[in-house]
Amino acid sequence: MPKPIFILNGPNLNTLGRREPHIYGDQTLKDVEAACEAAAQASGAIIDFRQSNHEGTLVDWIQEASDAARALILNAGAYTHTSVALLDALRVLAIPKIEVHLSNPAAREAFRHNSYVSLASDGVIAGLGVYGYIAAIEAVKRLEAAA
Ligand code: DQA
Repeated sequence: MPKPIFILNGPNLNTLGRREPHIYGDQTLKDVEAACEAAAQASGAIIDFRQSNHEGTLVDWIQEASDAARALILNAGAYTHTSVALLDALRVLAIPKIEVHLSNPAAREAFRHNSYVSLASDGVIAGLGVYGYIAAIEAVKRLEAAA
């Protein structure tokens, strides 16, 4: 049984579509999931796509990924900028890890410029909207080959 790529989404990403559409676009999280499903199918991968508003749940899922996933794609939302707990969980994880953001946090408020997630990620994709998730799925094979 091939392992899925875990695609984990953090707080407030369940409100995509109605959340600051000038920043995040008008696609819903369901739309993002459908785009990821299509991209995964095209590259012969399977995905496990989840969202939680709770930091501890995200920590649990990152720990679960250690045995259950071949790679992790993480949009941690605001926890990106605050969570040492996510960083510590990511540091244990030996599979490819890609940080994704719909917007480009580096071009936004100063409090978004620090990313704890980046400290434990193999790569970061930001500012490309939903395409960032697709690019991350496509990047998994390259990271695996480079390992
Ligand atoms: C985000 C950027 C974060 O700064 C913000 O808190 C989010 C979404 C993005 O996808 O652009 O919730 O991760």
